[in-house]
Formats: sequence, structure tokens, C-alpha cells
Amino acid sequence: MYRLLLDTANIIKAKNTMDYLNISGITTNPTILSREPGNFWDILKSLRDLILDKELHVQVTADHYDDMLKEADVIVNKLGQDTFIKVPVNTEGLRAIYEMKKQNYKVTATAVYMPQQAILAAFQGADYIAPYYNRIDNINAGGLNVIQQIAEIYKKHSVNTKILAASFRNTQQIMSAIACGADAVTADPRLYNKMVDSALIKDAVREFKVDWINTYGNCSINTITN
Ligand code: E4P
Repeated sequence: MYRLLLDTANIIKAKNTMDYLNISGITTNPTILSREPGNFWDILKSLRDLILDKELHVQVTADHYDDMLKEADVIVNKLGQDTFIKVPVNTEGLRAIYEMKKQNYKVTATAVYMPQQAILAAFQGADYIAPYYNRIDNINAGGLNVIQQIAEIYKKHSVNTKILAASFRNTQQIMSAIACGADAVTADPRLYNKMVDSALIKDAVREFKVDWINTYGNCSINTITN
């Protein structure tokens, strides 16, 4: 089964989505966190308290391997050992991913634009790789095509690393990512809402209601006796 995560640090939006969707977790990055007022750790702790033992992904901001490891250490100390450490896939990041996996951290290799990054990050033992669907589309390299290639390579070589597709601007991209083999997607809360926001659905529900009321009156099933 694929997993659905929220790409937000906004507590209210996350709560509202969790009211109707049993999400698998929350992903953040420095940009997403910069949009929320308040202290960095307070925001992340509130997210952790909200989602309990579901996945929380937090990105390092350091440029160098040793500083990435220091940040990872603080992140898991403050937010729990199960927190996924997001690490960009460049040479410093690849080095950090390998070391973090040796130390039993959970790691999400991020900023993935090309299958070659996915090959290297999986080789270093990353738990997830996060290809950026919309950003790849924006450079005319085809987000769908990139995710499909990664999924085929991972399948062919029985790679355990999971594909967590990210960077979505519309529901079609989410559907395509899942259809072509992403194990998980992370998206802004409003995109999940849009997936069930349709005049067709509203009309169908309205018609059922009219037929019900015409037959049984304005009552509920649980009030009908035999
Ligand atoms: C999630 O893990 C990514 O950081 C995020 O989706 C980046 O993409 P965007 O800024 O294009 O939405």
C-alpha cells in the first residue's frame, strides 16, 4: 500500500486534514518551516505531538557532512529517534547518509531531480528518496518519467529504499506518481482536499438524499424500526 504524507508545518492545516484522512506522516523542509511564525523547535514539537508515532521528516540545513551529523543528532534528541533526517543528495549529503545509516538513523534523501541521485542515495542505504515531481516538470525533464525510471531500477535490483514523491502542484501529478510506482507521496493539505472536491460527488450525494427523503422522510437509518 502506498503512503500519503502532508508536506506542511502548519498545525491547523495538518489537523484539519487529519480529521478526514489517516495520513502516514508529515514532511518539512526549511522553506516550509520558514512560513510558520514561532520558534523552530516549538513548531516541530507541536507537529510531533499532533502526529504521535507517525513519520516526521526534518531536513538538515548544514552544508558539510560533520555539521549534518551534528544537526541529525540534535533533531533525534529533541523529536525522537524515529524522526526521518532529510539530507540533500550531493557529495556531502551522500557521505552523511552512509554515516547516519551506520548510526541507525532513519534517512530521507531529498532534493532528487535525477535517477542517478536515486541510485547513489539507495546505495548509501537511504530509507526514502524524495524526487521533486513539479520542479522536475519545471525543467522539462518529466517528473513522471524520472519517478518511473527510479521505480524500475529499484524493482529490477530489489532495492529496499522507498520512493517518497514530493513537490506537487496538482492532483494529476499525485495520481501519476502513485500510478508509476511511488511508494509514498507528500503533498500540501489542500491537494488532498481537492481530490474529493467535485460537483459530481456533491450531485450524487444530493440525489441519494432526495430519494431517501422522498421514501422515508427526513430521518436517519438508525431511527428506522422494523
Ligand atoms: C518535500 O519533501 C519537499 O521538500 C518539497 O515537496 C519540495 O518541493 P516544493 O517546494 O516544490 O513544493
